[in-house]
Amino acid sequence: MTSTVVRLMQDLETIGRDPIRGGYSRPGFGEHELTMLEWFVAEAKARGLDVERDQNGITWAWWDLPAEQTAERTADQTSAREHAIATGSHLDSVPGGGAFDGPLGVASSLASLDQLQEREAKGELRRRKPLVLAVFPEEEGSRFGVACLGSRLITGAITPERALSLTDREGNSFADAARATGLNPDLMGADRARLAGLDAFVELHVEQGKFLGNNPLGPAVAVASSILGHGRWRFSFFGQGNHAGTTLMVDRRDPMVAAAAFVLAVRETVAAQADARGTVGRLEPVPGGTNVVASRVDVWLDVRHPEDTVTAALVQSIYDRAVAAAGAEGCTMDMVEESMSGTVHFDDSLSRSLVTSLSATTSGVEMLPSGAGHDAGILAAHLPSAMIFTRNPSGISHAPEEHVEDADAQAGVDALTDALAALLSEEAAQ
Ligand code: GLV
Ligand code: MN
Ligand code: MN
Repeated sequence: MTSTVVRLMQDLETIGRDPIRGGYSRPGFGEHELTMLEWFVAEAKARGLDVERDQNGITWAWWDLPAEQTAERTADQTSAREHAIATGSHLDSVPGGGAFDGPLGVASSLASLDQLQEREAKGELRRRKPLVLAVFPEEEGSRFGVACLGSRLITGAITPERALSLTDREGNSFADAARATGLNPDLMGADRARLAGLDAFVELHVEQGKFLGNNPLGPAVAVASSILGHGRWRFSFFGQGNHAGTTLMVDRRDPMVAAAAFVLAVRETVAAQADARGTVGRLEPVPGGTNVVASRVDVWLDVRHPEDTVTAALVQSIYDRAVAAAGAEGCTMDMVEESMSGTVHFDDSLSRSLVTSLSATTSGVEMLPSGAGHDAGILAAHLPSAMIFTRNPSGISHAPEEHVEDADAQAGVDALTDALAALLSEEAAQ
């Protein structure tokens, strides 16, 4: 029989397919992310949840406490939605991304809810806390350049002024894109009261590396210990646009040549540093014509390392190499930091309690670091947050080959259910 989580993932199979790369392209605040969101809202409502979209574009679907526990709260003057446990993920994707990065966490949250509702109906679960499913917009930052835009806004990790001034590749501002989806940009920004109402956030996510996939006979799930510090920088090289046929090679000031030297310098600099990662995944020549020497080339750099001081030193070395590469070609350059998220260590006691609750049914559950960024990492600075990873046998992510076997998807849901059941049953601290 097809499990609920597999059926839910099947619902999403046709939304936002990328006809060129394969996989999915579902940019934040775009048509496909919104279609996915409509699907989520319908699924949540069908399960009796009360759905709201907040001023930052985060969708919250509430499974409130049963009447009896709500009455207890009224007696001790605790409001019905305080001390909530949150779970969820995101529905946007990188260009040409896989099916599971984000949607698996959202589908698993719905499937887990089904299991929790069943346990409660059978009297096997007595909740002391409400559950809220959360969907965060523009987690990948593939449209407006800053990852985890929704969670950064609600936590104040980005100011609304800066967020609203971000633009996409077509020059549309985030303010306009958000407005087009019904949000009021004037109301955006940190919402400490909403965060204060959450006791914990647990995000289930497809594993994006090889750890679980390397051990097909081992557990299908793991718990995250940390998120690697990471940032994005835009380097712009400026030269002289000119004619491909009439400009002698000695007369050129070609920013593409400087950019090429830069890409190689990134590889060389980062490869020499243990545990570091450096990527140039996007390069845009202006104007971008086959028979035109470019006048400008923008190149985006992603650097990651467990120690933020090492990340900073790597970026400085790369900057120095970029200055030299530009100078050698008679070009100029500048650099803009688009985002930086320091290394995050997840709440130790919450993560260990997750390992304990998962170990009741699965032996050998381990903690592993995440090389990828997540909304849970942004929220971790404000409330206890944790992550469960589900095995990805390909070990590949941000690419169509990302994969989760049906049985492993179900194992992830079972793990999330056990973890949430334990958290929901805890007495709320006064
Ligand atoms: C998002 O998945 C990132 O790590 O960039
Ligand atoms: Mn993700
Ligand atoms: Mn991702």
